[in-house]
Amino acid sequence: MDQKPSNKFYVTTPIYYVNDVPHIGHAYTTIAADILARYNRLQGKEVFFLTGTDEHGQKVEKAAQEKGKTPKEHADMLVDNFRSLWIKLNISNEAFIRTTDAEHIKTVQGLIQLLWDNGEIEKRQYSGWYCTPDERFWTGKDLVNGNCPDCGRPVEQIQEENYFFLMSKYQDRLITYIQDNPSYILPETRRNEVLGFLKNNALGDLCISRPKSRLSWGITFPFDENFVTYVWFDALVNYFSATRYLAPHAERAAAGDFWWPADHHLVGKDILTTHAVYWSTMLMALKFPLPNNIFAHGWWTVDGKKMSKSVGNVVDPNEMIEKYGADAFRYFLFREVTFGLDGDFSEDALIRRINTDLANDLGNLLSRFLTMAEKYVGGIIEIPAGNTTALNPFSRECINEMAPIVDDTRYGNYANLRFNIILDHIWNIIRSGNNHIAQKEPWKLAKTDVEELKHVMFNIWNVLRLSAVVLYPFMPDTAEKMWKQLGLTSLVDETKQSLPLASSSEPNESPGIYAWDWKPGYGITVAKSEQLFPRIEIKKHVEQAKGGKGAMTEPGPPVTEQKPDDIHVIAIEDFAKVTLKIGRVLEAERVPKSNKLIKLQVDTGEPRQIVAGIGHAYAPEDLVGKLIAVVANLKPAKLMGVESQGMLLAATDSEGVLSILVPEKNVKEGAGIK
Ligand code: MSP
Repeated sequence: MDQKPSNKFYVTTPIYYVNDVPHIGHAYTTIAADILARYNRLQGKEVFFLTGTDEHGQKVEKAAQEKGKTPKEHADMLVDNFRSLWIKLNISNEAFIRTTDAEHIKTVQGLIQLLWDNGEIEKRQYSGWYCTPDERFWTGKDLVNGNCPDCGRPVEQIQEENYFFLMSKYQDRLITYIQDNPSYILPETRRNEVLGFLKNNALGDLCISRPKSRLSWGITFPFDENFVTYVWFDALVNYFSATRYLAPHAERAAAGDFWWPADHHLVGKDILTTHAVYWSTMLMALKFPLPNNIFAHGWWTVDGKKMSKSVGNVVDPNEMIEKYGADAFRYFLFREVTFGLDGDFSEDALIRRINTDLANDLGNLLSRFLTMAEKYVGGIIEIPAGNTTALNPFSRECINEMAPIVDDTRYGNYANLRFNIILDHIWNIIRSGNNHIAQKEPWKLAKTDVEELKHVMFNIWNVLRLSAVVLYPFMPDTAEKMWKQLGLTSLVDETKQSLPLASSSEPNESPGIYAWDWKPGYGITVAKSEQLFPRIEIKKHVEQAKGGKGAMTEPGPPVTEQKPDDIHVIAIEDFAKVTLKIGRVLEAERVPKSNKLIKLQVDTGEPRQIVAGIGHAYAPEDLVGKLIAVVANLKPAKLMGVESQGMLLAATDSEGVLSILVPEKNVKEGAGIK
């Protein structure tokens, strides 16, 4: 197969079991894929973003029987739960695949035939322990107390003839491939788990058929009518089959215009093995290229508990969208937790984010700017002629924060799906806008220096404009609203127009939309309209949760009441004994066998090694490059046998949210903290 053109970007979500009611976990992966898709479209790439539903197998067959429907009728009804949620969440998928699509079925059968013809499949007598709800065979030694090791339910011994994909012969090749391609499986911890599993266990062959006598709801084997395809084999093929009939310009594939391989398969950590092992070896046997990356994200718990129907704590995204809006929900999921780690969802935490980040920082900046613009400059923003960057230290500050967001070749924050780091940078831009207002005091300039006032208003306008562009992948609706309130016409169209034309040999001279110096080419009059994120009053939220009417009085109290700390008073001389310094993290890795400890190489003016217990809140790769606060004169100590020459400062709140302390501006390594 030829190489996919590099101006194409292909991202997938898992295809969700049509039987499930969509919950926060489904929404999480799908929004992540949407962020990547939107970012890549803004970069001028042609994007194929695929999601869909997994509709075969025993569970669907059984549920349909109970309702007196055929499995297909049953699936047709349920699929809309997903479709409608994706519309409400503003998901921009190019296609939605259903494994009951005729074209998908044909592709699965074609690939099984190909593997059979090439001697990659064998028919064998098989006996094993079968877990019906999970639709999986286990060996005797896998079982836990005689039950399924995954779900704990009883298993039954089954003896039958089946078709096996000869997966075991690819074990060594897969190990080498994963070793040679460090970003094939991310995050690194998951990659190490897969490698550990492959190195310490003999890979078996994979049973890819089910006799129709036991299960009829599946794709019939192409060369044996008595069998259907194992649901995972069928499901994994969706990523490939969709490129043949659902992708934009799928018909051009014959002329060498391919979508395969995918850039990212996004999956939850529980289905990493099926992707990293089954799918990779299937592709090797088919002689198809492997995807560029499989990224396994963590799981959400809810108020500290595992989400489950029986506990009744399943988070319904529809309800969250109704209460708080799609953008706030999208933002929260990616700001709160490093993508790849587990996270805990609570409505209180969501409200806190809305009130602080969205209402206070972002919403306030926009509304203060618009009010001042109307009051002091009649809503007209004058775009200075010539280069507006050179003489403006504020612009330089913003440009520095923009670079790690948009320059992915250098920083790789998008390539490595470091969404919370990207949002951190965006918030630095927003905060610098608020600081600029505080420093320049436009209300005073209106009386003393109108030229400077115009310049400051342009600066704030531009910082809001840039924030809108970089926020767009995360909060598309909010970004467009900001864009319009800033007197601009269309964020997406104007961004695309600012890209160098792919077909033109002439370099595009004008600066792109991400540049401080971009100019709209028409006059700007801003006008205040709806508030982006009104503050949520906690009382109202609590009352609503209780089913009450909602008492709307004063702005809400802090979300969780902090107990006053038992403050121990010290003299200034005591404090002076502590040397605090700023350091830059140069390298970071986990301490082996520890979930919590991360070993950091830090430049605090001099090199030092620090071991910090922050591994449950940060991935090592998220820390590299960050400026941190360090206690520099602490007596060295050993943690799990590793020397630590100092301590990193971090805050933990009463809900266990941990945040390292970072300076607000770029200060030099070794700077003292007083
Ligand atoms: N049909 C298979 C996937 C086949 S892909 C070729 C499947 N479907 S599922 O409906 O069960 O899918 C679920 C996705 O939701 C998985 O990626 C899983 O990790 C994710 N989540 C389920 N519960 C979750 C949380 N509590 N938190 C985050 N994600 C979770 O598996």
